[in-house]
Amino acid sequence: MKRKVTKAVFPVAGLGTRFLPATKSIPKEIMTLVDRPLIQYAIDEARAAGIKEFIFVTSRGKGALEDYFDHAPELENSLRKKGKTELLATLKSTNMDSGAIAYIRQHKALGLGHAVWCARRLIGNEPFAVILPDDVIAAEKPCLQQMVEAYKETGGCMVAAMEVPPEKASAYGVLDVKEDMGSMVSVRGMVEKPSVESAPSNLAVIGRYILTPQVLKNLNQIKQGAGGEIQLTDAIAQEIEADRDVYGYRFRGQRFDCGSKAGYLQATVAFGLARDELRDELASYLDEMKASRKAAQ
Ligand code: UTP
Repeated sequence: MKRKVTKAVFPVAGLGTRFLPATKSIPKEIMTLVDRPLIQYAIDEARAAGIKEFIFVTSRGKGALEDYFDHAPELENSLRKKGKTELLATLKSTNMDSGAIAYIRQHKALGLGHAVWCARRLIGNEPFAVILPDDVIAAEKPCLQQMVEAYKETGGCMVAAMEVPPEKASAYGVLDVKEDMGSMVSVRGMVEKPSVESAPSNLAVIGRYILTPQVLKNLNQIKQGAGGEIQLTDAIAQEIEADRDVYGYRFRGQRFDCGSKAGYLQATVAFGLARDELRDELASYLDEMKASRKAAQ
């Protein structure tokens, strides 16, 4: 019997060096797209997929992230008194149930695989999701929800996959496809950051996973992989070697790499344009910018 996925791990212990100096004191996951921190988008997506337990793998300097999930009764009271009901509802929508969030420390940034392994005792013996909050996905139906629905049919391990231009494949984990079934592919192998020539396909893994507890056992044994880090991809690839099913899921939606500056800025514009109250002003500013760039050329 396939079990329901009710736990999600959010690995947020990375150093975020691409956003220095900001990340000296602000965790990357607290940076905002318009007015919601990246982590809120990840939590909303997990909730939509039916996740009930939220496990954060944190590190030193991530206090602001933990504080973000505290309820804010004084602020709520003040908004209530002033009759600011909309803001109050926005604030309340971020409240989490008591006991729904757990924090565990990764003492050293040894890689994504290691971060997930740190949560092993909280996950126990059941399938679980992993969400990387710096991959933000704009989608009509949230990406993890699409995956959980597909997983009900397949079981096994599932990774979110997206087509990338061949020259970009070396920045990702890349799938070696056994059978292409449209929105789903079965996987023969996975390579982390292959060279352009050796990439087995242009189907790249991005930051959403549904994994079996066996992957945690594989992580027990894994030594450092690409870039000297303990790679989650290697632990998933071991499942394929053991003849267990691994699937890639071509999600419907647009993914933004908010761990990079360009991706973060693009997401800011896209999420700004998606807001009724901002669209016109932002769009006319972008038009002006475009016109003045053209004039300057
Ligand atoms: P990244 O590769 O984006 O690394 O990690 P990073 O440290 O966050 O950022 P840069 O490259 O220095 O700018 C992908 C995800 O894995 C988590 C990160 O927090 C991020 O969500 N991670 C990475 C860990 O939790 N622990 C690690 O040891 C490494």
